[in-house]
Amino acid sequence: MKTEIFYFTGTGNSLVFAKKLSENIPGSDIVPIAGSIARDTISTDAEIVGIVFPMYFWGIPKIVAEFVGKLSMEKAVYFFYVMTSGDFSSPQYVSGRFDRILKKKNKKVNAGYRVAMPSNYIKMYEVDPPELINKKNRQIKFWIDKISKDVTGGKDDPLKDKFTPAAMLVNWLWKINVNKSDDKFHAEDGCNSCGICKDVCPVNNIVMTSEKPEWNNKCQECLACIHICPQRAIQSGKSTRNKGRYLHPEISVKDIIDQKK
Ligand SMILES: Cc1cc2nc3c(=O)[nH]c(=O)nc-3n(C[C@H](O)[C@H](O)[C@H](O)COP(=O)(O)O)c2cc1C
Ligand code: SF4
Ligand code: SF4
Repeated sequence: MKTEIFYFTGTGNSLVFAKKLSENIPGSDIVPIAGSIARDTISTDAEIVGIVFPMYFWGIPKIVAEFVGKLSMEKAVYFFYVMTSGDFSSPQYVSGRFDRILKKKNKKVNAGYRVAMPSNYIKMYEVDPPELINKKNRQIKFWIDKISKDVTGGKDDPLKDKFTPAAMLVNWLWKINVNKSDDKFHAEDGCNSCGICKDVCPVNNIVMTSEKPEWNNKCQECLACIHICPQRAIQSGKSTRNKGRYLHPEISVKDIIDQKK
């Protein structure tokens, strides 16, 4: 069956996962969400539709929810998602959210997965130590094998949400404020005006003015600009100043830039 796997990524985890999954599902393609979202109409004639993305504040990135809302998928008989997250500890409201979006298209979530990968939320936490990064990246093989088998076998068993009204409130507050989450982003003196931050931003939220980047409140909070700046010059207030930086070891800066194609 024709399969399309749409992905969104900040620091490469979800892209690696989408690539490896596609290699295991015969006849499947991967398609970047960032490169398609600006079109007036987005459609797929795939029978199996998959979405791979990072977990943001216990839920779905804003751009991913908007994309699925816009996506016309008349031939789809099977919808699945894979959410990469820093760990398994937080609540989640994902299957229910997708079901609400898909109901308008007479579709539903057939399967959903949450896979722990290296954590990139350096506004609050440190990056994982190298041993943990390697361990998590090794463990995805189990998930690739399982999910490709489930999807090709048509398994119908969506991941149950575990959320409380408080968790939903946290996610909702994050969602309504996320575009302005760049308010505290700034480039420090080490910036050499290379423009890479502008290039990696999946939503073109950065412009170079007076040789320094400026942010324009269209942010998705993917943190690609902060993690990928070669000079480590971008900070969010003071919260990221003493933290490490992360890009999945199998992903290049060009791969991140190319998701806009
Ligand atoms: C804005 C933001 C919010 C996040 N929220 C969560 C979360 O609620 N729970 C969690 O386990 N990880 C969270 N993370 C970590 C990412 O989901 C995780 O590192 C993911 O694999 C990154 O994928 P990427 O490399 O494809 O961008 C968050 C990361 C960001 C940038
Ligand atoms: S990537 Fe870093 S060094 Fe390059 S322009 Fe942006 S802030 Fe400056
Ligand atoms: S400005 Fe930075 S954090 Fe915001 S969407 Fe662009 S790359 Fe991601």
